[in-house]
Amino acid sequence: PTEAEAAPRRLTFTPIAPSTADEIVVPEGYEHQVLIKWGDPLFADAPNFDKNNQTAEAQSRQFGYNCDFVGYFPLESSNRALLCVNHEYTTGSDMVRGYVPGASKAFADVEIAAHGGSVVEIERTGSVWRVVKSDTYNRRITGETLMRISGPASGEPLMKTSADPTGTKVLGMLNNCSGGKTPWGTWLTCEENFNQYFANNGSTADADIKAAHARYGVTEGATGRKWEAFYDRFDVTKEPNEPFRFGWVVEIDPYDPTFRPRKRTALGRAKHEAATTALAADGRVVVYTGDDQQFDYVYKFVSNGKYDPNNRRANFDLLDDGVLYVAKFRDNNKGVWIPLTLDHPKLKGKFSSQGELLIKTRLAADMVGATAMDRPEDCQPNPVNGRVYLTMTNNSRRTSVVADTGSALANPRVPNFGGHIIELTESHGDHGAADFRWEIFLLCGNPEIDLKTDEADLTPGLAANATFFAGYADASKLGKIASPDNIAFDNRGNLWITTDGQPGNADIGNPNDAMHVVPTSGAERGYLRQFLSGPKGCEICGPEFADDERTVFCAVQHPGEDGGYPNTISTWPTGSQLPRPAVVAVRRKDGGEIGV
Ligand code: FEO
Ligand code: CA
Ligand code: CA
Ligand code: CA
Repeated sequence: PTEAEAAPRRLTFTPIAPSTADEIVVPEGYEHQVLIKWGDPLFADAPNFDKNNQTAEAQSRQFGYNCDFVGYFPLESSNRALLCVNHEYTTGSDMVRGYVPGASKAFADVEIAAHGGSVVEIERTGSVWRVVKSDTYNRRITGETLMRISGPASGEPLMKTSADPTGTKVLGMLNNCSGGKTPWGTWLTCEENFNQYFANNGSTADADIKAAHARYGVTEGATGRKWEAFYDRFDVTKEPNEPFRFGWVVEIDPYDPTFRPRKRTALGRAKHEAATTALAADGRVVVYTGDDQQFDYVYKFVSNGKYDPNNRRANFDLLDDGVLYVAKFRDNNKGVWIPLTLDHPKLKGKFSSQGELLIKTRLAADMVGATAMDRPEDCQPNPVNGRVYLTMTNNSRRTSVVADTGSALANPRVPNFGGHIIELTESHGDHGAADFRWEIFLLCGNPEIDLKTDEADLTPGLAANATFFAGYADASKLGKIASPDNIAFDNRGNLWITTDGQPGNADIGNPNDAMHVVPTSGAERGYLRQFLSGPKGCEICGPEFADDERTVFCAVQHPGEDGGYPNTISTWPTGSQLPRPAVVAVRRKDGGEIGV
């Protein structure tokens, strides 16, 4: 559909008010169900969750902790599908009574097994989704699953360890936050804050390796979880290269439970939030990804080969060969994609190979003058207008727009507590383009405090509480939002946003994290409304539409976070003082399309 066609189908649900209740709140006429939660068995013979007897063996057959990305992969019949879900990280003190980091190898193993991802077969009967406990497709991927390192960095000297002298295989994926889906139906799952698993960089002998790890935030001393007490690979003084084998985008075929996951090194090494695909005009595959750290960068990868819609397997190695670009935003609302290749004048002679450059992606991006952003989280092409939306979740440390960024306007608030969303238009609407235009779509916060309605007012150095909702002028109708994180589009091009950090935002009254929606076209462009509120202490992830947009899934991550066990913040979703991260399905009570 064109923008003109999409505009008339208005969002008609009654927005909900911000909430601090320890429950899921959805609009009138909607209902939710908890589909699957931490510890639920994925297989007919897997044990039920037993909070007092958690074992790695059981956990590796049960749904993992802290669900984040949710991807819906259809099966042949329209009411059956596979859900691919990331398990980002663990907080031991919220998972078990009396947790002491480094005290129990058995519980460290539970935590490692609670990381990674799940492939879960689901089935809908009428309005009810349920998990199919079966080993046809169901799969747990953990912090120990054998994976292949593919692409230019495979076999690089910096990838070699005592356990893997070939530098081509690695155990597990860690801190997988968001992700994406490829046109050929595979799951991209992104390693984000992998640095937090590796200890003792202060004592690393090799100065270059130490500096590279420091740029990615590997700590000088002990880690929070202290897995290094049990496994040498988590101690940089013993295995200095092991962290180089993390921080990648991992591709998994959810339809083949025997598929060995591939770490796709051509897509660069960063604290990847998401990896979302689009096709260039000539059929090459483009993957957008953000590096979620204060003052880090936005990237895109463009494959050399072209997508073949008629031969699924022919696409399986497309992401091993291509060019990685980093974004430079200029103040005239233009920008360029800078290629991170050995022949770039500023990169010549700095790296021994493209593989080494990719292992040190952040260092290469520093050298070419990429624009330092306010924590790039999700990135998503709009299926209706083709523009790419980039969430910058927040940046409390931004003190100067000019000195910190090289582009004052793309991150205009000082500091940026509320976060913002950038709308990027590739030249000629081609995702393979070398340059782009951009504008601010949302400056999140409380529109009742200081609502800007004209783009000309978005000058660099804006106060922290200035807001902008794509020019929408009626503050009394607008919702309040902070810390946008994951995003998704419905088929009319409305942007659905989930948040991670609203409870810390006093400007909007410290509500629980939530799901909001905002049209990107028509008279209601910018008219943001709240659709869902999560329970206390959680962030909301996903969102993911399915079932002809009659269901929207989202992940409720870390309800009651840091409340300990017994939990003092949340008892969601079972009423127990051991709150459990879970995936939720939201539907309209009459079975109709979400939002309209
Ligand atoms: Fe795990 Fe960038 O949020
Ligand atoms: Ca998360
Ligand atoms: Ca996130
Ligand atoms: Ca986040």
